[in-house]
Amino acid sequence: MCYAIPGRVVAIDDAGVATISYFGELRKARNELEGLEPGHFVYAQGGFVIERLQEAAAQEVLSVWKESFFDLRAEDLRLSLLPVEERGSPEVARILKKASSGVAPDDQEAVSLLSLDNEAELELLYKTANFLRCRFQGNSCCIHGILEFSSDCTRSCIYCGLSEQNRGLLRYRMSAEEIEAAAIAAIDGYGFKALVLQSGEVTGQPLEDLIAAVAAILRKRAVLIIISPGEIGREGLEELYRAGARGLLMRFETSDAELYEQLHPGCTHEERLETLRTAIEIGYFIITGSIVGLPGQSAESLVKDIRLAAEGLNTAMFSFGPFIPHPDTPLANHPVCGEKEMLKVLALIRILYPEQGPVLVTTALETIDPGARGRGLLCGANSLMLNATPEEYRKQYSLYPGRAHAETSIQEQVEAAIGLLRGLGRAPTDLGIFLQ
Ligand code: 5AD
Repeated sequence: MCYAIPGRVVAIDDAGVATISYFGELRKARNELEGLEPGHFVYAQGGFVIERLQEAAAQEVLSVWKESFFDLRAEDLRLSLLPVEERGSPEVARILKKASSGVAPDDQEAVSLLSLDNEAELELLYKTANFLRCRFQGNSCCIHGILEFSSDCTRSCIYCGLSEQNRGLLRYRMSAEEIEAAAIAAIDGYGFKALVLQSGEVTGQPLEDLIAAVAAILRKRAVLIIISPGEIGREGLEELYRAGARGLLMRFETSDAELYEQLHPGCTHEERLETLRTAIEIGYFIITGSIVGLPGQSAESLVKDIRLAAEGLNTAMFSFGPFIPHPDTPLANHPVCGEKEMLKVLALIRILYPEQGPVLVTTALETIDPGARGRGLLCGANSLMLNATPEEYRKQYSLYPGRAHAETSIQEQVEAAIGLLRGLGRAPTDLGIFLQ
């Protein structure tokens, strides 16, 4: 299986940014490969050129895609049409009509969209988001693998099952060799071209193991590596960048500093943001966002979360997921975030920032309801992560209970995801960044 379409380089500018053609659609990607020239065929992921292919190999893959690429696009276009008749309140119709014609809602309008509850209005909200996704992002949908290499954690976040305070949890820590073997199995066995390596917050030896694993994987395979080991400080980030990691997945969890500090005893919001800014300064792209449905979180605060991710931190992908209570944490009795609340946030992200990076459907959303993934993809989302953690460890990576895919093999996850995307007219590819 392949989650990438090879593209042909048509130009490379002085800053090393390549323009790549996919059946005539132009996208941009940063290039670090020596000797790359116009005319060469490449795979790009997350805005990076990751591998050059010989023309014969590229043409073979392209011949598989040639027909389905345009068929899928036609199906996506059909599913992304806006409803003709106007339903719901004239005010909601006005805000969404304006959004679909290119004028994004202001803060007050955004807050009002988050409070929608009427079915017809919600449908219009979701359809507007899907229309904008189709228009500005096309029909490609990233499929990245996530490999959770350790459940050790040095923090005490009061919503998270991996918290150090959760003494009953059986912990595991994969060695550098185990991480490397699992990554290579995911790349070779299932065609992943981008992998997220995630853990609880790590320091010391586990961090050294991660650095060694990243370097070893990249010595053997061309893949985009996104790290997600928590706040590891400038030095750790620099070492991982030198080892070849190019993305950092780390949520700021909430833009409300006071709420953040209540949820994360002994930590500051400023430190969290500083880590994200340091990563950007080093050269990483970041994937960030917040948890939806936290105690004391308001619609105003969620709009600020979206703006912080998009404008404050220039996120390359939006990672917003629902809160799910974990029985062994202080928030055990706080209610789970409803699917509707989460879908409204996904739709609003796309409506506010139609041209910015992909919107992720998180595993937590799928955990609330297995069908929510498809619904998320129809209201603005265009990115999925599949769980590539060795099955014997998955249950122990207990951020919240009942995690989707905890017991599904990678093969079954891949088949289900590809089938779902095909039905929605989406190409399971990460084509990088659109040429503006
Ligand atoms: N519900 C939802 N998301 C959670 N996370 C941790 N615990 C929970 C929970 N109970 C998310 C946090 C963290 C990511 C790895 O998992 O956003 O950054």
